[in-house]
Amino acid sequence: MALNVVVGITGGIAAYKAVNVVRSLVLAGHDVHVVATDAALRFVGRPTLEAISRNPVHTELYEGVAEVRHVAIGQAADLIVIAPATANTIAKLAAGIADDLLGNTVLASTAPLVIAPAMHTEMWQNPATVDNIATLRGRGVHVVGPAVGQLTGRDSGPGRLEEPEVIVAAALAVHAEHAARLAASGDLSGRRVVVTAGGTREPLDPVRFLGNRSSGRQGVAIATAASARGAAVTLIAAHLEVQPPSDVALVEVSTAVELQQAVADAAVDADIIVMAAAVADYRPTSVAESKIKKETQGDTLELSLVKNPDILAELGAARRSGAYPRLRLIGFAAETEADDAALLELGRAKIARKGADLLVVNRVGWNEGFATDGNSVVVLDGAGAIVSEAAGSKMSVADRILDAIVALG
Ligand code: CTP
Repeated sequence: MALNVVVGITGGIAAYKAVNVVRSLVLAGHDVHVVATDAALRFVGRPTLEAISRNPVHTELYEGVAEVRHVAIGQAADLIVIAPATANTIAKLAAGIADDLLGNTVLASTAPLVIAPAMHTEMWQNPATVDNIATLRGRGVHVVGPAVGQLTGRDSGPGRLEEPEVIVAAALAVHAEHAARLAASGDLSGRRVVVTAGGTREPLDPVRFLGNRSSGRQGVAIATAASARGAAVTLIAAHLEVQPPSDVALVEVSTAVELQQAVADAAVDADIIVMAAAVADYRPTSVAESKIKKETQGDTLELSLVKNPDILAELGAARRSGAYPRLRLIGFAAETEADDAALLELGRAKIARKGADLLVVNRVGWNEGFATDGNSVVVLDGAGAIVSEAAGSKMSVADRILDAIVALG
């Protein structure tokens, strides 16, 4: 798809390299509009930029006023790339200053903004620039480079403009990610999604429990992403180690039996249930009224456990007998199996047993899966086929899982 790309060029020696940024984008089929500052045109000629971009080069704020050019260029842009971005331009962007055409273009645009800084190392490391870059990053601006290497004078260090092909590849990737996010936004609107997250705790006595290492991060990420995609979300939370999002209905539970009740209540009008919680398979047969004491137990202590309800399997069975006809049911399988093929076989057997529409299989271990920001999963359908594989932050994995759920219809 051809994009309308604005390439902003500001006044640094590296401006000559911007010609190759423009050229790569044009050769990739994009419609490129150069907005150069006056200072940039001291380093690289307007005719060169017009010939390479195949479009007029804009510099003047007071040109084309009748067509409201100072906002029109930004409004039409799919992507803005500023290369090179000088320390001065970065400061102006951070402050939202619009005293030239480029500043107005950026402020008038909702397109992703990618900047490729270029300056001497001292300027790059100056606290003012460091703060400005942090401010821009915090607003979602993507910063490419600078590279470390030979600078304009005899010095070398961080501050060199990143190579044009690296800037172009990064900018197009930023646009692709932005477009994917936009496409996904709203695709769950009007749907009621129930997500269980965290790990249940089964009390042994008033001070002890049997639990597991689930932190709730992946389930919370799914609830957050589903809400961002327009769903009305109920989060059934068992001992989360992370903050739940504020825009979901939160139901806090502790044990598997409490979770079962909360899920049953929420299932009545749910469209989608995602069982990300780690549910204890067994609970103590009886809970001691008072603290279990060493003196009365001696050297060994035997616990008697009784099976908990399998909430996912029960929902799957209820569906098979005609209940919840429009419900989509998603299970998780946390497995310690090291071999990939064997892991998938366990997943296939599990989804058949549980009667879910999708099963998210992930490997867990002493150092894997829990309390980390990353995850790597394979999503299986009811027939055991792989419908999606995702690795990355728990938030990006959440979005890929939701993509697979949306694809169920
Ligand atoms: N689950 C559930 N109720 C249980 C146990 C698990 O609803 N009592 C759900 C989990 O929320 C998850 C899925 O079933 O979505 C699979 O959980 P997992 O612990 O991997 O499987 P188990 O059924 O417990 O099987 P096993 O531990 O023997 O592998």
